[in-house]
Amino acid sequence: MANLLRKKSIEQICRDAQSGESDATHEGGLRRELGTLDLTALGVAAIIGAGIFSMIGQASHAGGPAVVFLFLFTAVACGFSALCYAEFASRIPVAGSAYTYTYATLGELVAWIIGWDLLMEYAIGNIAVAISWSDYFTGLFAGYGLPVPEYLTMDFLSAWRGFESISALLALGQTLEQLVANPDLSSQLLAYTAWTTAPTLGSLHVVCDLPALLITTVITALVYIGIRESKRANNAMVALKVLVVLFVIVAGAFYVDPKNWSPFAPNGLHGVMQGVSGVFFAYIGFDAISTTAEECRDPQRDLPRGMIASLIICTVLYILIALVLTGMVSYRELAVGDPLAYVFGPKGANLPWLSGIIAISAVIAMATVLLVFQIGQPRIWMAMSRDGLLPPIFSAIHPRFHTPWFSTILTGIVVAVPSLFLNLTEVTDLTSIGTLFAFLLVCGGALFLEDDREPKGAKRRFHLPYVNGKLIVPALFLCTALGLGGFAPDAVTEFFTAKDVLHKIPMAVFGVFFAALAVLSFTKNLSLIPVLGLVSCGYLMTELGVKNWIRFGLWLFVGLLLYFVYGVRKSKLNRPSAEP
Ligand code: ALA
Repeated sequence: MANLLRKKSIEQICRDAQSGESDATHEGGLRRELGTLDLTALGVAAIIGAGIFSMIGQASHAGGPAVVFLFLFTAVACGFSALCYAEFASRIPVAGSAYTYTYATLGELVAWIIGWDLLMEYAIGNIAVAISWSDYFTGLFAGYGLPVPEYLTMDFLSAWRGFESISALLALGQTLEQLVANPDLSSQLLAYTAWTTAPTLGSLHVVCDLPALLITTVITALVYIGIRESKRANNAMVALKVLVVLFVIVAGAFYVDPKNWSPFAPNGLHGVMQGVSGVFFAYIGFDAISTTAEECRDPQRDLPRGMIASLIICTVLYILIALVLTGMVSYRELAVGDPLAYVFGPKGANLPWLSGIIAISAVIAMATVLLVFQIGQPRIWMAMSRDGLLPPIFSAIHPRFHTPWFSTILTGIVVAVPSLFLNLTEVTDLTSIGTLFAFLLVCGGALFLEDDREPKGAKRRFHLPYVNGKLIVPALFLCTALGLGGFAPDAVTEFFTAKDVLHKIPMAVFGVFFAALAVLSFTKNLSLIPVLGLVSCGYLMTELGVKNWIRFGLWLFVGLLLYFVYGVRKSKLNRPSAEP
């Protein structure tokens, strides 16, 4: 049995990447085109998207204006992870992101798990973005008097659920006219219409999200053609979307009524935490730029800068947007799919022209997210294939376009086809839990890095600051435990008395995890930043609910099966010349 914890040294990883780049059969490798500004733009492109244009609505509705604190907490959690990513990107400047980093620190099995898990962040995440893009796009078309039939704009499950719930109400004796008059039922009625007007194949209702498929196809074609073309398209689109977001903040500030900020946390901590999945989704993306390491001019200097700069820019924008949105209208009104456009619509500031501009910019903003993730996923597969964990075709580079052509096309198919049928909420939850897990492993991996200062006179690279967690982490653990007992005794009592054991599992696991980290920090002087990353991301994971933990567990199980069927036997580390 192969040693599942075998590691690849950083030197070996860099050598392999170089030989992959210059492989004569590929007639040249990837192009080094990206500088700090491009990477920051790429980060902003990946971060600002469906989360802030769409999911913030539900999060604000559940949490009220206090959702701002969730944005702040999530930014801090992402900040710890970003610093760990930056340390890795600076040490291991090759494509593959968290996958490559864990290969060097936690070994092959964990690296495979993370590679498989990243599929959730990039490919499944892009399904969510494609679906949200389609919502704004079809809304825009309808606004110009060109409605797309409902059955071509919706996933099968939503249409079926809507049909079932409306049919149940009709069966109770209500008329369709009565139901149409109830604004709370508008989305279910749309789904009902989609289901009942859809063409059928036998008994199958043909309901699908066609625009989601189309945008994914267009973006995949762009990524296939080349990184230079992608970069140009991306930089132009990012500039536009940042301008529009700034404009929303400045224009919206004039319409803020401070009365809307009271009550500030109408549903307490529980309400605020209901928005975790959407708010975390809004931050995903800064890490994606590490997959372009081999296309950067100076990855060791520029990647850390790009990641951290893009995260800071987006955090500031998000907090301001959350304040403006919840200040412009009551949080109760924000449970809509297009909240930014809504607050400038008739029920808000009543500036329809601005509402239209926002809708157009949302369409552009989400397209850039799609672009970055469609670039990222193939590059992770490319790295895994170079290591032998996936078949060689996954790392084949196109002779003319210099892109990983097979992986790019496969990513296009993996995103486009499910986006026709899948439901947004479920896809968002899966993306968030998968990405948080990736962050956990990167923070965990950072604890295993040895001190590695460059020799005097050598080019400086980014270093994760070391702060000894010996006393701080145990103190934090004790404060949290005592604080919970003191300030939220009801929550503690409920935890120990509730009969639903299954739903306690995530929180119980987190409690043990946090305690173990406190002990290890005390005994081993662990570095504080990665530990805080582990604690904060671990906590956010617990808030995603046991149903998502089970789905995520099944996903990892399938991944492990694949590893034991293929990767473990084909790994390049099996070769006699490879390192142990
Ligand atoms: N952060 C990205 C978005 O919100 C994934 O669309």
